[in-house]
Amino acid sequence: MKTDASSVPFDVALEAVNAGSTSPKHIRRLLLAAGDELAALFEVADVKRRQSVGDAVHLRAIIEFSSHCVRNCSYCGLRVGNKRLARYRLSPEEIVATAQEAERLGYRSVVLQSGEDMGFSMETLCDVVREIRCHTDLAVTVSVGERSYSEYALLRQAGAHRYLLKHETADPQLYARLHVGHRLADRIAALKSLRDLGFQIGSGFMVGLPGQSVDVLVADLRLLHRLDVDMAGIGPFIAHPDTPLGQAASGDAQLTLKCVAVARLLLPYAHLPATTALGTVAVDGWAAALQAGANVIMPNLTPKAYRSSYAIYPGKGRNLEEPQRQRAQVVRMVTALGRTVAQDPGHSLRWMEKSKEVFSDAYRSSGMGVS
Ligand code: 5AD
Ligand code: SF4
Repeated sequence: MKTDASSVPFDVALEAVNAGSTSPKHIRRLLLAAGDELAALFEVADVKRRQSVGDAVHLRAIIEFSSHCVRNCSYCGLRVGNKRLARYRLSPEEIVATAQEAERLGYRSVVLQSGEDMGFSMETLCDVVREIRCHTDLAVTVSVGERSYSEYALLRQAGAHRYLLKHETADPQLYARLHVGHRLADRIAALKSLRDLGFQIGSGFMVGLPGQSVDVLVADLRLLHRLDVDMAGIGPFIAHPDTPLGQAASGDAQLTLKCVAVARLLLPYAHLPATTALGTVAVDGWAAALQAGANVIMPNLTPKAYRSSYAIYPGKGRNLEEPQRQRAQVVRMVTALGRTVAQDPGHSLRWMEKSKEVFSDAYRSSGMGVS
């Protein structure tokens, strides 16, 4: 007979996952936490975060450089089928200038994000990455969707350090319904290719997608663990009126926080952002996430004129604060929580170890030797 997962005592599940269990029944029980259990889950995740990645919060400046997209994801306002969206594309010079501004403001890393824009050539994107690497000390993350292996390789050669490609949902049937003509297996294979090419990889998923059960969230969290991701973005689904899911209910902030907390327990060393979507559905969403396992914030540095056009979901891009004020607000919030702002680019520790290995191998084989 199948045991009802809610019959596992909460304390047992919390202790087990905190000690490394990835058992579905334990994870499921944590996602069902309610009342006093919530505070206990967030507290244990917060302690795990402090012990493994410390108190520093990494700030990544995100530059949404193109809202063009060839895909038609059912939930996203940027889908090609949404003809009501004003599309824009930044010039390479604008992107590089924005990255340089980010560095002047004190950011140590940038995220270059767009829809799957075939009008922005990979060659140009590689030039942009090279320019940023040449003129700044920023760590560079790219998030431009599913591309070919050779294109990923070109980006890596150009100097990109990280690649974000959320798996969105770990349920293959739900994935196929939301992304007609695409398969979850290809997404997972892409993440593995990116890892093989030496990228720090980021995945993530949405909470509250129509048709998603708690067991799907359990699968989402276990997939992050199996892929051993360096970064994971977990945010609530927010219904966009100009999409087929426009009338659906949006995801729940508290359930999202529980997923972040469990992700911290499963992946102690990962970089977990307090996502923009969470900050959109809950006023204090970022602060709450930072106290439930998160250690990253991604302020939006997209030039103001375009910010509201990157309308993945309603409410996105409504913060039209000047970059300097925006940064000051984030720093104030982080400081008020007793945390600090990280001064380093925030590379994943495992990746740094690996790079050292690659470096010393290359050094050795160059005949120069190491002592
Ligand atoms: N609600 C919340 N997140 C969304 N995304 C896209 N559409 C939505 C939505 N309606 C997220 C996806 C995607 C990223 C670009 O934005 O996770 O990976
Ligand atoms: Fe395009 Fe990404 Fe939106 Fe899908 S989620 S429509 S790939 S921008």
